[in-house]
Amino acid sequence: MSQKNRKGKASELYRQLGRRSLGGSVQMWDDLWTGAHLATMAAGGAANGVPYGAVEDGALAVAGGRLAWVGAAADLPGAPETLARRVHDAAGAWITPGLVDCHTHLVYGGDRAREFELRLTGASYEQIARAGGGIRYTVEQTRKASEEALYASALPRLRDLLAEGVTTVEIKSGYGLTLEDELKMLRVARRLGAEEPVTVKTTYLGAHAIPPEFDRRPEEYIDTVVAQMAEVAASGLADAVDGFCERIAFYPEQMARVFEAATAAGLPVKLHADQLSDSKGASLVARYGGLSADHLEYSCEEGIRAMALKGAVAVLLPGAFYFLRETRLPPIEAIRRHGVPIAIATDCNPGSSPCTSILLMLNMGCTLFRLTPEEVLAGVTRNGARALGLEETHGTLEPGKVADFVIWNIAYPAELAYRIGHNPCRLVVKEGQVVKDGRVVRGG
Ligand code: NIG
Ligand code: FE
Repeated sequence: MSQKNRKGKASELYRQLGRRSLGGSVQMWDDLWTGAHLATMAAGGAANGVPYGAVEDGALAVAGGRLAWVGAAADLPGAPETLARRVHDAAGAWITPGLVDCHTHLVYGGDRAREFELRLTGASYEQIARAGGGIRYTVEQTRKASEEALYASALPRLRDLLAEGVTTVEIKSGYGLTLEDELKMLRVARRLGAEEPVTVKTTYLGAHAIPPEFDRRPEEYIDTVVAQMAEVAASGLADAVDGFCERIAFYPEQMARVFEAATAAGLPVKLHADQLSDSKGASLVARYGGLSADHLEYSCEEGIRAMALKGAVAVLLPGAFYFLRETRLPPIEAIRRHGVPIAIATDCNPGSSPCTSILLMLNMGCTLFRLTPEEVLAGVTRNGARALGLEETHGTLEPGKVADFVIWNIAYPAELAYRIGHNPCRLVVKEGQVVKDGRVVRGG
């Protein structure tokens, strides 16, 4: 943000809010955070030559759970105590938007440590899947698990993410593969969002794998997924629909049927696309105006171009790339050249990415994919929010957005991607409320 824009923005908002508090006893804001540097991650920050959309010596105000004012402390329209009921000194820390993990399979039964051993003695992910292991093993474990047990096992995984500043997370179903078991998973995901200080967006992933009872009858399983779509939508438990388009899962023509049904039911789509081979998944997402295409290691340029035209987000998953010891890199240069927004996520799942560290993903996004620290931070803020259709309300520090932000003990934003195994998160604010050890400790 240029100095001029910043001032313009600040004074515009000030006009909107009116001068009602100045000189009076009623402050217009609930909380004012000063003494902080802000990585606003607002779009155009870098384009205007301001990396991270940074505002050094900044201040940020919260009113009614929303960001009410964001700018340079010097531009505040009065003395801090006259402006807010509570004034906090961040003591030179950096503040970023709350982090967004836009692709996870956080809810599942069992684990796949044995499969990990097998892979290390030579079996590939694909071979294990073809032999009936992999996703199918997790389906078996998930079907067996009660809703309570699924909740109890997902909670510590979620809390790992929250401890690193995640305030929004996407959670997929996909290990139930019957309507009943898929809805069970989605209910657990919704409950996590209701009981923990995090926004949860849920995704129905019925087309994740061919369940054992439909062995060699994939088309009939797709018939079932299509037939159940209206009920999934009516349950209100799913915010989007995903699938696995791959030679070990479903062909593009089959996924297209699922996307048709999702679209008819009013649900946006996204896809596990081109993870193990070029399955034309990126183009398919573009054709259905999807939110994102995820993985993309084997995507061709044509698919990336199609995504650019439709504004789909490229969700890159360095954890799965690393854990499956993939060597084919996603087409980063083409993604950049076509201006496709890049998001980064954990893909937390038992098979290809048993990872609950978003900060590790920032590091791997840089070291494995050669993304810049600013790109990966945008990937878990602005672009992560966009991948979930939340770009109007989340993902940047801008007036009017939900007051989700993180205070970090760092001297420069690149530190978030630079360190390995270190968590500099000092404090999380969720919808204006301070969260400590996973609990809201004070109303905003
Ligand atoms: O994102 N590719 C498909 N789905 C998951 C892995 C699921 C599993 O192996 O359990 C992924 O990599
Ligand atoms: Fe995934």
